[in-house]
Amino acid sequence: MTSNRIVVLGTGGTIAGRGAPGADMGYVAGQIGVGELLAGIPELAGVPVATEQVAQIDSKDMAFGVWQALAARCAHWLAQADVAGIVITHGTDTLEETAWFLQRVLAPARPVVITCAMRPATALVPDGPQNLVDAFAVARHPGAQGVTAVCAGVVHGAAEVRKLHPYRLDAFGSGDAGPLAYVEAGRLRRLRAWPQGSAEAALLDRLARTREWPWVEIVTNQAGAGARTVDALVAAGVRGLVAAGTGNGSLNSEMEQALLRAMDRGVRVVRSTRCLDGEVIGQPGDRLPAHPLTPVKARVDLLLELLG
Ligand code: SIN
Repeated sequence: MTSNRIVVLGTGGTIAGRGAPGADMGYVAGQIGVGELLAGIPELAGVPVATEQVAQIDSKDMAFGVWQALAARCAHWLAQADVAGIVITHGTDTLEETAWFLQRVLAPARPVVITCAMRPATALVPDGPQNLVDAFAVARHPGAQGVTAVCAGVVHGAAEVRKLHPYRLDAFGSGDAGPLAYVEAGRLRRLRAWPQGSAEAALLDRLARTREWPWVEIVTNQAGAGARTVDALVAAGVRGLVAAGTGNGSLNSEMEQALLRAMDRGVRVVRSTRCLDGEVIGQPGDRLPAHPLTPVKARVDLLLELLG
């Protein structure tokens, strides 16, 4: 059987946003159905497509239940022999968390491409349609695999992608690693390997059965940080803490002591950095383990670990 069908899963975001005609601010995200978004794009007309509206939200409100549904629908469609890949329309604000979550849970051997827009569908010149066309190019590319994000002609890997800008159309970066590829006039110029990995088989099942997610928070080191936030969270029952440290994951001394006390009480703690590039270089004897990814992605890892 030929695998040429592309499944498009809608979750909302600015790409599905509606506002005053022509305006690029002051709109409401998550208004237009995914079928309607595709219908306006002649370049995609000949592609066999299935669409599903998994959610219709502003991604600032991304919730664990939507992640569960999205992972389940991706798994369902990836199991169909005629599906070449999946495109997910998503808000830009939490796209990087969803990307890493799906890569961890699915580690798909076929492409799952998340795309978005910085301007609503009703803007004078919306960027969503071109981003969708580019996302399709990645999803249909022979040999493409893993979870990627496509925005403004740039393809980012799930582990590296992060939102860098609140307004610019090219709003994402991949830090030191750089992008995976560029989409140029419908063709891919590859720079790096596709995201790899192996999904833990039981994780998807466990996810489907999860009703209550573990409570994991990010605490940021900053001038005058102290111990109070960590102590309050531990007293309130937090199960995991990501410390977004300064520089190489360094922490205010009182905060560090509070985190060590939290660990002694069974709270899972990892140390990331609030720096925009690079990763924490762990040292032998570190009591608070270093995590190589950004704080929000380290949090995804802790959530999944604690779900286990
Ligand atoms: C959202 O994240 O849903 C709103 C912002 C955006 O998509 O750019």
